[in-house]
Amino acid sequence: MKLKSIKVAVPASVSNVGCGFDVMGFAVDIICDEITVKLTNKKEIKISKILGDNGKLPLDVEKNTCGKAVKEILDDLNLDVGLDIKIKKVIGFGSGLGSSAASAVAGVFAVNKLLNLKLSKKQLLNYALKGEEVASKAIHADNVAPCLYGGFVLIRGYNPVDIINIKAPKNLFCTIIHPQIEIKTSEARKILPKNIPLKKAVTQWGNVGGLIAGLLTNDIELIGRSVHDEVAEPRRAKLIPGFDEIKKAALNSGAVACSISGSGPAIFAFSNNLKTASIIGSAMKNAASINGLRSKVYVSKVNASGPKVI
Ligand code: HSE
Repeated sequence: MKLKSIKVAVPASVSNVGCGFDVMGFAVDIICDEITVKLTNKKEIKISKILGDNGKLPLDVEKNTCGKAVKEILDDLNLDVGLDIKIKKVIGFGSGLGSSAASAVAGVFAVNKLLNLKLSKKQLLNYALKGEEVASKAIHADNVAPCLYGGFVLIRGYNPVDIINIKAPKNLFCTIIHPQIEIKTSEARKILPKNIPLKKAVTQWGNVGGLIAGLLTNDIELIGRSVHDEVAEPRRAKLIPGFDEIKKAALNSGAVACSISGSGPAIFAFSNNLKTASIIGSAMKNAASINGLRSKVYVSKVNASGPKVI
């Protein structure tokens, strides 16, 4: 049966995961965007509505991560169809939770199903990356890939993109605090060091290896020891008022690790049970509030499946 319209939900994601700047990410369960795509007979892509963005996101297809990613598919495959797109944003703009990537993934996933294109995840990933580039002004797959594949993702290489998808340990819980400030990824990338001293690089790649080993062997303590960032966190922490106190509060409440989610301001912490994850959330919220930050707190398992038709 030919579909005329489709609605999909796509998960938020945490990229970098401490040590894996631009190469590691995972999808979370509790925060999802939704989009509806309808076939029309106008032979153009139109973004007719965006809800939940406080008017911040562009309706212009070329400037919108969803619109751009969808246009890439239609242009590449010479598809002369009309599409009407409605986007419901729940993942905060400039939150560090993969908002722009989620829109791009939602678009390519929905169009693939709607037009029965049978494109592989790898093909969809490449189209979604073109969309993500509009927002972050750089190609990085560490939100797009986990959002599309679910679970943890390692981007082993970018040329060509080589994705390794890893299941999350069952007893890994993630607490996320989203301080109600905005940080633009493009801005947060400008303050990163251009070069890394060898000693720091050695620590960093040791930790990436440790994180992968911890995920593959369900070793939450090893995951905790490995989620440590010598590269981005020291620079970006300054963009989040009270970051050190919030991190300390998480670690003192039983978190095995805590770091910035993507380019921030969201901060994530790992623990091995739901009760501790909730206690960590309250402690982080309290520390944020002492530093004058309003915040939202989420406790989530790792999302295992990526986007779904709803
Ligand atoms: N890896 C990217 C960065 C993710 O840290 O700039 C942005 O969300």
